[in-house]
Amino acid sequence: MQTHYSIESLQKILQQQVRLGKTIGLVPTMGNLHAGHISLVEEAKKQCDYVVASIFVNPMQFGRGEDLDAYPRTLQEDIAKLEIAACDALFAPSATEMYPQSLDSQTVVSVPELSNRHCGAARPGHFDGVATVVSKLFNIVRPDKAIFGLKDFQQYLIICKMVKDLCFPIKIIGMETLREHSGLAMSSRNSYLPGEQKRNAADLYQQLLKAQADIAAGADNFSALEARATHDLKQAGIEVQYFSVCNAENLEPAISTDTELVILAAVYVGNTRLIDNIRCTRKL
Ligand code: PAJ
Repeated sequence: MQTHYSIESLQKILQQQVRLGKTIGLVPTMGNLHAGHISLVEEAKKQCDYVVASIFVNPMQFGRGEDLDAYPRTLQEDIAKLEIAACDALFAPSATEMYPQSLDSQTVVSVPELSNRHCGAARPGHFDGVATVVSKLFNIVRPDKAIFGLKDFQQYLIICKMVKDLCFPIKIIGMETLREHSGLAMSSRNSYLPGEQKRNAADLYQQLLKAQADIAAGADNFSALEARATHDLKQAGIEVQYFSVCNAENLEPAISTDTELVILAAVYVGNTRLIDNIRCTRKL
């Protein structure tokens, strides 16, 4: 696997591949790769001839006071994992390669409505940063397919809308969340959790499963479900930022006639913010 630090060097290789008639798959990441990321690379390998993973801790999607500087950077380990997964190329640009001018003069891609709720309300500007960097990666790599995790369900929907609204000729593939044995969704931020907090954090998935089971059994008082989960998580030492039963297409609060739902949650375990979600289909 070749690692490219510049857009020019990556594009040279990609042009050759396109000339050979190869399809290109892209897996955008911020690195500190775990099995969840690697599952995306493996799916890309199944669906495309030539797979590019990107590792870029994107300053534009971090707010003031967030963990941009502390975010784990483990390039050598990541390269080893991508090589085992037979990834074809890694794009690992510097911040100046991606943003040669200051962020204040960077053109912004902003996906309305979907970007403003849940994580978007909690992290103003976050999804503009995501949509902008993903647009740049799409234009740099020009993939046929791009693979994203459903763990970041709101991000996935925002990328799908962006691709549709801006006519990017790219198919977006969403992949299921990989979890630890405890049920805790794999995340680069799990490395911030000391052992006991990591054990506590697994309660989040248990609460999501419980709410999913209740909805499948006919419960439709969604705010009562949200309140119970918030209360139970607090008892377990987990601070809930939101635990929301939503319409799975527009992420508005679910109403009794909705059939496709997603329960989105963001919590603090100690100082570490974790997100997770679960989808459920209702029979009316
Ligand atoms: P990052 O958090 O590194 O995640 C990269 C990709 O891996 C995302 O599509 C995410 O949904 C997926 N992913 C994370 N944990 C997963 C898990 N447990 N199972 C399956 N997939 C998982 O998301 C970002 O980076 C950034 O916002 C990015 C899209 C790269 C833009 O900067």
